[in-house]
Amino acid sequence: MTPNSMKTIAFQLNGEEKRAEVAPGQSLLELLRDTFRITSPKDACAPQGQCGCCLALVDGKPKTSCSVPAEKVEGKAVLTLEGVSAEERQLYARAFQVAAGLQCGFCTPGLVLRIKWLTDDDRVLTRDEIAKGLDGHLCRCTGYVKIVDAVELIQSAKRGRPLPEPLADGGVGTRLPRYQGAELALGDRAFVADIDVPDLLHGAVTLSPHARARVVRIDTSRARAHPGVVAVATAKDVPGDRWVGLIYKDWPCFVAEGEEVRAVGDVLAAVAASSARAARDAAALVEVTYEPLVPVLDPAEAVRPGAPRVNPKHENVLSTTRFSRGDVDAALAASAHVVTGTWNTQRIEHLFLEPEAALAVPLPDGRLHLYSQGQGIFDDRRQVASVLGEPEERLHVELVPNGGAFGGKEDMSIQAQTALLARMTGRPVRLVLNREQSIRMHPKRHPIAMNYTVGCDAEGRLTAAKVSLLGDSGAYASVGGKVLERAAGHACGPYRIPALQIEAVAAYTNNPPCGAMRGFGVNQTSFAIEGCMDLLAAKVGLDGWEMRFRNALRVGDTFTSGQVLEKSVGLEKTLLAVKESYYAARAQGRAVGIACGVKNSGIGNGAVEYGKCRLVVEPPGKVGLYAGFTEMGQGFLTVLVQCAAEVTGLPSGVFAPRVESRFELGAGQTTGSRATLLGGRAVVEAARKLRADLDGGATLADLAGREYPGEIVIDDTTAPGQTKNGKVKTHTSFGWATQVVVLDPAGKLERVVAAHDVGRAINPQQTEAQIEGSVHMGLGYALTEELPCKDGMPVTFKLRDIGVLRAQHMPDVEVILIEDPEPEGPFGAKGVGEIGLVPTAGAVAGALQAFDGIRRTRLPMKDSPAARAINVGRIPDAERDRWH
Ligand code: FES
Ligand code: FES
Repeated sequence: MTPNSMKTIAFQLNGEEKRAEVAPGQSLLELLRDTFRITSPKDACAPQGQCGCCLALVDGKPKTSCSVPAEKVEGKAVLTLEGVSAEERQLYARAFQVAAGLQCGFCTPGLVLRIKWLTDDDRVLTRDEIAKGLDGHLCRCTGYVKIVDAVELIQSAKRGRPLPEPLADGGVGTRLPRYQGAELALGDRAFVADIDVPDLLHGAVTLSPHARARVVRIDTSRARAHPGVVAVATAKDVPGDRWVGLIYKDWPCFVAEGEEVRAVGDVLAAVAASSARAARDAAALVEVTYEPLVPVLDPAEAVRPGAPRVNPKHENVLSTTRFSRGDVDAALAASAHVVTGTWNTQRIEHLFLEPEAALAVPLPDGRLHLYSQGQGIFDDRRQVASVLGEPEERLHVELVPNGGAFGGKEDMSIQAQTALLARMTGRPVRLVLNREQSIRMHPKRHPIAMNYTVGCDAEGRLTAAKVSLLGDSGAYASVGGKVLERAAGHACGPYRIPALQIEAVAAYTNNPPCGAMRGFGVNQTSFAIEGCMDLLAAKVGLDGWEMRFRNALRVGDTFTSGQVLEKSVGLEKTLLAVKESYYAARAQGRAVGIACGVKNSGIGNGAVEYGKCRLVVEPPGKVGLYAGFTEMGQGFLTVLVQCAAEVTGLPSGVFAPRVESRFELGAGQTTGSRATLLGGRAVVEAARKLRADLDGGATLADLAGREYPGEIVIDDTTAPGQTKNGKVKTHTSFGWATQVVVLDPAGKLERVVAAHDVGRAINPQQTEAQIEGSVHMGLGYALTEELPCKDGMPVTFKLRDIGVLRAQHMPDVEVILIEDPEPEGPFGAKGVGEIGLVPTAGAVAGALQAFDGIRRTRLPMKDSPAARAINVGRIPDAERDRWH
């Protein structure tokens, strides 16, 4: 940048006169964040202007600051949340806390500023008008229901009606507001990209443009010569093991000369420079010579003999899982009715609002402090230490609760590259991905092709199911084999089927990797089995509710995996809970769909699982609550605090939850709807010890410095096809659900009723919010969301194209919580993080068939009136590969 290409502007920022040098192409967002260190506007999609996270008011008008050139604010007044009066800030924070209107909180400051603008007006807005007014904003967590509730509270408070006080203290069963909710609402709680340290360098990465190519040469000389560049790292600079991976180490954190790139998110180089702009520009100057190869894109072709290998060390069949019992062919032959068909689901982008970021800070004692937002910081530590060739003790890892993850932050992203740059330079390095890089790098939800043949008797009782599944696992193993294993284990849904034969294959291809995403393979098979249920019901002459009630699993029945269900099977209760709504809507002449769902809580399938916690009494009168799983918006830390408060009898405000490596609390990934189940039990165990001391007459002051460990181990689950002590127990616990989807007379979404057996709602309001957010994600999955690729490259990175629903697209959602206590869970609780969207697509498909008679077997169902009424997710068909 030549000094004379810079321009000096004068403007007002939060009421103060400012002058700044701005560069050509610099956005207002960069000016606010980089020059003025104003961090309430967040970068989630710059420069797209499609998420609203970066909102600022410019001369009183809402503007997405990422799409406003900085020089355009010359002479104008810019307002961010930092400049809003303390009284008004408190109003917004309280409303969001009372309404539980935020989860991860990354979208919230932008929303709050929009809501300020909307509610400063004299007119009282209806819920529909509020939803339309929020159209410029994306929230991936909440489903918007409780955001609109918060706006209603703010409107009435601005008209003099008192706002309810958020609960100041609460144990199990209370509506305790989210931990750090007020700070998150106002943008005061830092995410990784907001953390500044002295002497900071900025990182950037160079990614492969090819899905498959041989890397002939990597020339970093131009990048190194770029002004501001301090270091450029390639594979040659890795002192330890370059290969990472949660199950198989098949993923290079840098691809070396002579190797093949296998996906468009592969990293060739990483740059550290004095500014983010210099780092980005230099990363673009890394010159890589490729020899392009024909990519393997179709999983069906990938698994044929003779197909080129994606991974030179492994055949293209990544995994095969089988379950069988009974004589399926004989049972099908004897069935009164049989249906058969193929169902297909699409690749789905997590679209967590906070793109991946890491900060590595060298400490004076030689250790490295890594700020991570991953879903398992102890796995991050192990893998980063391995890349650096250092013992794990040389790394201190701290979780910065993230802005959403949904499974997409289980695998490493840029933690290792950031740590390496910090080691090479001896200086702190912060590396933040932009939206396109984020989408290219992290694993997606699997597209799966599913062949089903299912039979029933004359009364509609299921007799047999034959299922084959083929999932596109993309370029790296990630946890793809486990996803297909889970899809197989849940392939028959929550239904009793005496004879079954299931095979699930995960295939390597050169598409973006697929791995964990909320539902973990179960959403896909749920869509297929629920389609079969509807088709069979029609043959028998039953309605959807009755067909499901007749086949619903109950205590004593055998699950698909062979596990005999011994406790906490609340499915029948969820069916009964929606019965009235289902029949009432039908009686009104509405098109109605119904689907049931089951989802494991705990990984199971033979994995040994841990919950670990340490309570540390810290003066003055505080208790540090150290845990091993990740807060990613689901409310994990709040739940732990409530468990600790309940057991100890201490006020909840005493507990300060933290996730870091001060203690050895590694328990693997925050996955499988298990954090409450395992983490909660560990807290209960530790809290009981503290309680015993308090009951003995000690005060917290007396106990200062005392540590109370809590650890539980679950080691009694069985791998597919195996038994332990003569018993099959694939999972510790299951969540159960029934959802009803109602369309309006035009075939648009009108209402969703979601009844869920959650065991025990530790925080009923936040449990409800989790389910609302999941339903939102499930509706997008059903109707509009997809990430098609062409030659292994996503065809779009635009948020609106990807098809996540906006507030105005959401129907009414009624959540009904059923509590059928889980004896192995804390206070009877089990996980609810994933099941909320398991039945949704199936219920939508049923409603659509009731509306227009078309049975849709491919997601997303964009050809439907419900999807056509939604103005996001418009990707032309010509853009797609044949196998999406
Ligand atoms: S970051 Fe500006 S609208 Fe998304
Ligand atoms: S709370 Fe809105 S994106 Fe997480």
